[in-house]
Amino acid sequence: MCGIFGYVGKQNNAAQIVLEGLRLLEYRGYDSWGIAVKSGKKLMVNKQVGKIESAKTTLSASFLGIGHTRWATHGGVTENNAHPHLDCKQEIALVHNGIVENFVALKEELIIRGHSFNSETDTEVIVHLIEEYLKKEGFASSVRDSFNRLKGLNAIVVAYAVSRQIIACKTGSSLVVGQKNSDFYIASDALGITDHTKKLFFLKDGEMVILGEKLQLISIANGKKLKANFETIHWKQEDSKIGNFNHFMEKEIYEQPRVVRTIARTADQDIISLSRTIKRARGTFFIGAGTAFHACLAGTYLFSGIAKIHVNTAVASEFNYLEDFLTKESLIIALSQSGETIDVLEPLNRAKGKGSRIVALTNVLGSSLYRLADHSLILGAGVEKAVASTKAYTAKLALLLMLAHAMNGEIKKAKKNLLETSKEIQRLLSAPSRKNIRKIALVLKSSEHIYTIGRGVSYPTALEAALKIKEVSYIHTEGLAGGELKHGTLALVEKGTPCIVFAPNDDTYEAMISNAIEIKSRGGVIIGISTKKSSVFDYFIEVRDMGWARIIAQIIPAQLLAYYLAVERGCDPDKPRNLAKSVTVK
Ligand code: F6R
Repeated sequence: MCGIFGYVGKQNNAAQIVLEGLRLLEYRGYDSWGIAVKSGKKLMVNKQVGKIESAKTTLSASFLGIGHTRWATHGGVTENNAHPHLDCKQEIALVHNGIVENFVALKEELIIRGHSFNSETDTEVIVHLIEEYLKKEGFASSVRDSFNRLKGLNAIVVAYAVSRQIIACKTGSSLVVGQKNSDFYIASDALGITDHTKKLFFLKDGEMVILGEKLQLISIANGKKLKANFETIHWKQEDSKIGNFNHFMEKEIYEQPRVVRTIARTADQDIISLSRTIKRARGTFFIGAGTAFHACLAGTYLFSGIAKIHVNTAVASEFNYLEDFLTKESLIIALSQSGETIDVLEPLNRAKGKGSRIVALTNVLGSSLYRLADHSLILGAGVEKAVASTKAYTAKLALLLMLAHAMNGEIKKAKKNLLETSKEIQRLLSAPSRKNIRKIALVLKSSEHIYTIGRGVSYPTALEAALKIKEVSYIHTEGLAGGELKHGTLALVEKGTPCIVFAPNDDTYEAMISNAIEIKSRGGVIIGISTKKSSVFDYFIEVRDMGWARIIAQIIPAQLLAYYLAVERGCDPDKPRNLAKSVTVK
């Protein structure tokens, strides 16, 4: 996770430039932040715990600065653990994204050599290591030699008080360089840079870049010079304003009718072409993390039910351990809102090494996933800012529904179904429906545990509903297949335990009602999300029968319920504790 931003050039307000850059990268981590600028032959540092939103910096005028917004991996959320980290002489400042897997051994070695540490982070070893190498060699080779000793997937940006250069290295986490005349910018992604310049260079793994009077690109492995291929990007970086909503999560939930409608009207050609790619492949795999994984699982059900084709699904972080059978003919369809999730990118790199074909379904043009894939489809959900994914989830489901129908040559059916569903989502977001859901949130807000169950295509819905509720309201919520409850978890149900039951008008209905009765017989409180009322429901949310697109419609009340639970419990639904929008560490 973590956002990195750096600037070196002719403008002498580096701190301000870096601060503004970090604000745009805050979705990558928001527990603390820090900036270092070069002032004469000294480095000045400003670090703070907390969100960067309206923070100010008092750092003086400078032509060179680096900064970081943190999501803690090693060491608690304290000012000392915030980046940039400094060496013993306070001449080198370093910001880092990733995990130094061998930091314990390196730290022991450096302590023996007399270095003293100020933080509990793995990052600090890198800056002391550079200090050590600097005793016998120059800045650039010290950074390179130090980086070569790190294990894990890392990106670093380093400033040195006596040099007018910024040096960056990477393996894994993304870094983008922007150039405008003699000004250089470096950031974790293009979003931080495109306000300044559209001339970008995406650093590859194993490359080191030196930014100063000019740019030099070097191989980290052997120090050989490389050519930097800048591209001028033509896409406009979208922004998203909160408007009249209280939170971005609320706003993004409300955008879903439009997102689903737009996909129904515009995605045909891309989807038809992807359906041909799937038909040519021998073995197709959907991979994703968190909410994106739930969309993958939904895809497997849709493909089975609609196209009568089996598609494998795996949690992206587990795919490395399942990939032995991949061949040149395998197709991996990676789903990722951000396109930066390391758990998704890492197995894709390995699969690429085996010659497998990669297709990306991502929301972010120019993201690492977008550039890595052989073919990319943009979700078209628009900027998603809230950490909890809502509209990107329904966008993925809409595309997968179209894809499953396209496999049968029946894409028109999907389009019609999605357009009707867009109206049903609108109804679910109307005032009477919201009032009902808010009332249920008031009933559930003091619960310690909530269970969510569904069968068939509603099983991924149950998982996603549970994830949404727990991540924004901090109520422990567990999603299960309806049939699994009595294999263990039912033991936890007692008087008053709430259980959300997804019971759509399909072949799962009867069995779901039986499960609800089993829970109720043990004192559970049933919230039924269904096409029809049942006497077993204590509370009822109606979702009209949307055919296969029920998978989209029925998540909407769960998203709203999660949002209201967060608000009622005084949690920030947009920036839940311990999380970040883009997960760039393993
Ligand atoms: C939950 C949520 C996360 C993400 C996951 C993958 O609401 O947003 O579970 O779905 O971190 O992120 P992307 O889709 O960016 O790869």
